[in-house]
Amino acid sequence: DQVVAFRGEHQAGITTPAQDRMHFVALDVTTKDPAELRDLLKAWTRAAERMTAGAEAAPGGVVGGGPYGVPEDTGEAYDLDAADLTITIGYGPSLFDDRFGLADKRPEGLRDLPAFVGDDLDPARSGGDLCIQACANDPQVAVHAVRNLVRLGFGVVSVRWSQLGFGRTSSTSRSQTTPRNLFGFKDGTNNVKSEDGAALDEHVWVQPSDVTGGASWLAGGSYLVARRIRMHIEVWDRTTLQEQEQVIGRTKGEGAPLGQKAEFDTLDLDKPGADGKPAIPVDAHVALAHESRLNGIRLLRRGYNFTDGSDGLGHLDAGLFFIAFMRDAQRQFVPMQKALAAEDTLNEYIEHTGSAVFACPPGIGPDEHWGQALF
Ligand code: HEM
Repeated sequence: DQVVAFRGEHQAGITTPAQDRMHFVALDVTTKDPAELRDLLKAWTRAAERMTAGAEAAPGGVVGGGPYGVPEDTGEAYDLDAADLTITIGYGPSLFDDRFGLADKRPEGLRDLPAFVGDDLDPARSGGDLCIQACANDPQVAVHAVRNLVRLGFGVVSVRWSQLGFGRTSSTSRSQTTPRNLFGFKDGTNNVKSEDGAALDEHVWVQPSDVTGGASWLAGGSYLVARRIRMHIEVWDRTTLQEQEQVIGRTKGEGAPLGQKAEFDTLDLDKPGADGKPAIPVDAHVALAHESRLNGIRLLRRGYNFTDGSDGLGHLDAGLFFIAFMRDAQRQFVPMQKALAAEDTLNEYIEHTGSAVFACPPGIGPDEHWGQALF
């Protein structure tokens, strides 16, 4: 099964078992004409549906248009199968300013994120009117999808920033093993999983009662928060195993909560260690991010490792492209990141360099297209 259904109640690429590769792009709308944007969303729907089924971006395809036509598909995925490709669209807060008559449709929660302590955000890697998240188990398939959608958008949208990710840093299904991030720790153990039906409604999908009036189009959708987090891996790599485990709050080998044995042992923040203090330090990453310290808040994390060459100062420019889906960015990501930014001992080793928030509409039914509920 290398094809993930494109249509359905929710968009693919959220609870879909996280694929191994990602190409994420944020775009700005350059046209002033709402009709052009509406037509592009229609054209994107057709192309995305074709590509996720393993077909070329348009019927003319790579060579079908004849020698005198410009090929309708760029060709680099011609011989490849769909590789579980999912294409997920999201709308940024700036799409709902005065330009396209969408101000009445902006959901209350779709606002720029506040600044957090320690942020070192690059505006050139932040924000965007729209985003497209393409995930696949073949990097060429994900890049091909984004490239062909961007190509269709020529004159209507332009690329603001983009990020490639290799190696998922989360499991989103109990059928998957837990991968490791670039700090070498298992990541995704305590994630919200696609099998957790009630938790998905509580923490991931926007509920009809959350979005009244003009914003009701978002019911069944989800907020996407993206944070490009640089990891100072050279510093981390000179740190002792004990320090690394105290910072995360889990063991490196097994991924067990400190003081426990197995990866999926229940995380108990009160369990004392040998010295009588909690085995998991109060300022460890998993302690601060745990729902018991955050009024029950949880997120569905779906991020990727990245390495973007070097920083010119002798270090790799590597890290974690954090993506999380949630029912309300302001009520979930914001308080969680506030707590982490203030106290997490992990902060010594990481730096947030990019940030964006998008509202991902619900899935579409037969004959529907993206943007239909907006225009
Ligand atoms: C858990 C690493 C950033 C939220 C974890 C775990 C690791 C980890 C190793 C334990 C395994 C697991 O349960 O998934 C990292 C690294 C980060 C990072 C290396 C940055 C480079 C963030 C950010 C957030 C976040 C920005 C949200 C604002 C969480 C949550 C958990 C978690 C909610 C689960 C805690 C629990 O309930 O046990 N992270 N993380 N992480 N992380 Fe992060």
